[in-house]
Amino acid sequence: NKARMSAAGIVGFALEAAPRTTRAQSMDVLSSQANIAGYKAVLVAAHHYQRFMPMLMTAAGTVKAARVLILGAGVAGLQAIATAKRLGAVIEASDVRPAVKEQIESLGGKFLDVPFVTDEEREIAQGVGGYARPMPPDWMRRQAELVHERAKAADIVITTALIPGRQAPVLLKEETVKAMKPGSVVVDLAAAQGGNCPLTVADEVVERHGVTLIGHTNLAGMVAADASALYARNVLDFLKLIIDKEGKLAIDMKDDIVAACLMTKSREPELTS
Ligand code: NAI
Repeated sequence: NKARMSAAGIVGFALEAAPRTTRAQSMDVLSSQANIAGYKAVLVAAHHYQRFMPMLMTAAGTVKAARVLILGAGVAGLQAIATAKRLGAVIEASDVRPAVKEQIESLGGKFLDVPFVTDEEREIAQGVGGYARPMPPDWMRRQAELVHERAKAADIVITTALIPGRQAPVLLKEETVKAMKPGSVVVDLAAAQGGNCPLTVADEVVERHGVTLIGHTNLAGMVAADASALYARNVLDFLKLIIDKEGKLAIDMKDDIVAACLMTKSREPELTS
């Protein structure tokens, strides 16, 4: 596409390439849409789950709160924690970046710690530019063991782990799904990137080993009005960077956001630097 756009002389920008900086936040399409996807993932899970989310004491008996396990606590995962908490679930969450521990706890979730045993693990886990990097196999194995144990106790698992430019990491193995309670629900937000669970089928809801696996790839689109409104605000704020007072296109390559987002350019208009 990039080559065809270039050949056609089109100036093309990709907002998903914007840096994760404070100034870029209002045009951060990935964040605005991931936030919605994280929220909707919980509602979709609740819809497919055959039980209550909150703990309820009724005359006919007591209902236990649902246990929700969130894998990947970035923008989508944190919103999923907040949403599941509002519905009364008991939440545990895992991420490679240790910085999210406090965020998980401040939303009322429990952080599943997979301690680092080497300096290499500790260094890779810091990520780059706010994004995760692939963790060494030994750390992934230890994480998988912990996830296996916690998934067995969970009723709902929501996976959101992504690594930019790569297939999503496998965090929920088939043997773990097999060990989960019948009637459990998995929502795999990484379905479009290959899935965090190998059993997920993109854009389908399937049942495997008694577990419902949901692979919707456009959860944000299910909250269409707000998704569009926030996306429009992202685009508007970006346009303010590339359109001058006269309303003409003015591409300032010294602006780090503009430079990062520019994908293709034609000969006209001239770049300002
Ligand atoms: P993402 O969508 O690329 O990935 C989702 C989450 O999966 C990340 O938290 C990542 O660490 C995690 N993950 C990757 N591999 C994993 C594994 N093996 N096990 C468990 N978790 C794994 O990330 P997202 O949500 O787009 O953003 C990541 C972070 O960037 C945010 O949490 C936020 O702190 C930061 N950010 C900063 C902004 C700013 O300062 N302006 C704006 C937006 C995000």
